[in-house]
Amino acid sequence: MSITVRALEEPDIDETIQVMKEAWTYAHETWEKGHYPIEAHEFDMSLNTHERYTASMEYELGFFFIAEIDGKIAGSIRGEIIGASGFAMIRNIAVHPDYMENGAGRALMEHALEYLKAQGCHKVSLHTQAVLIPAVNLYLKIGFVPEAYLAKQWWGCDFIYMSIWLK
Ligand SMILES: CC(C)(COP(=O)(O)OP(=O)(O)OC[C@H]1O[C@@H](n2cnc3c(N)ncnc32)[C@H](O)[C@@H]1OP(=O)(O)O)[C@@H](O)C(=O)NCCC(=O)NCCS
Repeated sequence: MSITVRALEEPDIDETIQVMKEAWTYAHETWEKGHYPIEAHEFDMSLNTHERYTASMEYELGFFFIAEIDGKIAGSIRGEIIGASGFAMIRNIAVHPDYMENGAGRALMEHALEYLKAQGCHKVSLHTQAVLIPAVNLYLKIGFVPEAYLAKQWWGCDFIYMSIWLK
């Protein structure tokens, strides 16, 4: 299975939205249910609009990469660099259930970190939840460390703030 990671382009947006909605619906059913309220999940899903994806894609300090497997969009990663600070946040990463456990998540994360390093970033952080076991495992394997525990953060749920320092 060959995985290609590249920047999101306008013709990819509708397929990427569909892939993200299906990936997160699966993630909610599989790992988040009972921990992350359905209203929270539905709110997050409502943000998957063509306008928002276009804005993310066009934002000069943003990054938005997709992974393709056999010509199909399998997953994506997006985030932003905070000005000239050398610090970046990853806002979302997900892989469609049909393509999970084939290396796409790792490929997306490695591609994003290489890009951010080339942009001069020294630190990259993200928020996650302990119940998102594949994600936490992926982050730890790549070299992220838990930096803070955020009790009753969004929607009253606990989050973990994880970071990696790029050499
Ligand atoms: C997290 C996610 C992006 C990983 O994508 P993926 O393509 O399946 O991951 P990969 O195949 O690249 O695996 C990379 C590592 O992730 C971890 N991992 C992946 N699937 C896992 C699973 N089912 N159980 C435990 N660990 C898992 C492993 O550490 C794996 O390394 P290994 O293959 O050397 O064991 C995917 O599971 C996903 O979309 N989850 C739902 C959305 C989500 O939680 N996003 C993160 C929000 S903070």
